[in-house]
Amino acid sequence: MKLTWHNYRYYPYERELARRESAAVLPGVQMRESVGGLDLAGSFDTDSIRRLAYFSGLKKGQSFLPTKQHLLEATARSGKNRQATRYSTHGLHEYKGKFNPQVAKSLLNIFKVSPGDNVVDPFCGSGTTLVECAHMGVQGFGTDLNPLAVYIANAKLLALTTPVAQLRSVMARVEDRLRSAKNRRTCLSDNHRSRYLARWFDLPILHTIEITRSCIEAEAGSLAPIFLVIASNLLRDYSQQDPRDLRIRRRKSPIPETPFVGAFVCSAEQAFTRLDDVQSEIDTCELVSGMAAHYDTTVLTSQDIPVSFDAAITSPPYAMALPYIDTHRLSLVWLDLLDARRIPELDAKLVGSREIRGEARHKAIYDREFNAAGLPDQEAEFCSILQRALGSSDGFRRKSVPSLLYRYFTDMRNSFAEIRKVMKPGAPLGLIIGSNHTVLGGVRYEINTPAHLASLAKSVGWGLVESMPLQTYQRYGYHMNNAISSESLVILKA
Ligand SMILES: C[S@@+](CC[C@H](N)C(=O)[O-])C[C@H]1O[C@@H](n2cnc3c(N)ncnc32)[C@H](O)[C@@H]1O
Repeated sequence: MKLTWHNYRYYPYERELARRESAAVLPGVQMRESVGGLDLAGSFDTDSIRRLAYFSGLKKGQSFLPTKQHLLEATARSGKNRQATRYSTHGLHEYKGKFNPQVAKSLLNIFKVSPGDNVVDPFCGSGTTLVECAHMGVQGFGTDLNPLAVYIANAKLLALTTPVAQLRSVMARVEDRLRSAKNRRTCLSDNHRSRYLARWFDLPILHTIEITRSCIEAEAGSLAPIFLVIASNLLRDYSQQDPRDLRIRRRKSPIPETPFVGAFVCSAEQAFTRLDDVQSEIDTCELVSGMAAHYDTTVLTSQDIPVSFDAAITSPPYAMALPYIDTHRLSLVWLDLLDARRIPELDAKLVGSREIRGEARHKAIYDREFNAAGLPDQEAEFCSILQRALGSSDGFRRKSVPSLLYRYFTDMRNSFAEIRKVMKPGAPLGLIIGSNHTVLGGVRYEINTPAHLASLAKSVGWGLVESMPLQTYQRYGYHMNNAISSESLVILKA
């Protein structure tokens, strides 16, 4: 019997995760690597292999039992020999910093999570972990401070458990309404939201996206978030923002030639086709919906968390990495999730934010000098080293780095303490996190974030199980500015 590899090219870390998940799912079975996969010796329930992430199936003589992953990935092939990452509802909306669904799934296996268990992703972003939990019949619960992340994650979960026939019939009604509204012009309200959007969209396009929104709201009822998310995913392409730039700059490239409504209809149909395949490949009774909530993880237990969790899987924010709110501002404002005037304020609240504003800035510096937050010596000392390294040529942004890092460490330490309170004793937490660097006084300093996070977690009672480098792992959107050089998997135990 042989567990067979998928036909894409593997990174070394994927082979390592594959070995670990197969050992966890098939305990006591001997495995030997051979051409095309792992040869197995021993007895096991063949059905259990269906849950593996990094194998296409089990070959037994002439018969082949595919994994669910094999069937799922077949619904969204992104080219020959390339791993599909947009299968199921993962592709419904892009999100910077999103991680590969296969990583989340293999961790669910490595942590021996079973159907019916509860898993939390405390920085859930667009819900990658939650969707993978749903595929495996696991109750996923995610928290994120970005309202757009929460909205996207819940829309993906809702889509997963809504019959495609129902989605198609809603879409037909939305299209009818759009057709009859074709030559109508909406009267744009004279409010801050409309004025803000008018700065970023040509007026005819703004009219079209507003009409699309009102048609969706009129026809889709409680399913509206699914359709709005599909439309929101196109906004940046049709705006005056450069769609490829993380920072907000005016575009130089032309707007797509396909009219917005045509692109929306086409994206919706593509999403429904994928979903249809998923719903016919996976027994829908096995799907569990899960949910995401708009909570601040640094004070998680100030919320009413209904259960204690069997495992946690997350990719936390980096220090000074991505302005999650600013990057997604058009969608946040269009979906009415945030008043444009509150963008800087919310961005500054996110863990790892690059914004230090007013009093907070001075407080962070003050805290660092006296280590008022009581961080472990290693982290407090590292911030002091960076402070001493500042040179006269370092501008405002660089001068803020030691304070930003101190605040990041404090927020992450507080988050670890909060997450631990909602875990079952001994439950694992898997973190995907990378190192980054900063240049101060002309000297490059490596920020070994995985080691610092492990130290911060230990300081609030987590045990470190291991830290494993994931060579060449690249996360969507992160490598554009070379800020993140490599990522690690850090496993902790409550
Ligand atoms: C690396 S992203 C997670 C991406 C996610 N794994 C995915 O696949 O979409 C980190 C997330 O942490 C969130 N975040 C930052 N500060 C937070 C806080 N205080 N509480 C909750 N979430 C926060 C950000 O909004 C961002 O979505």
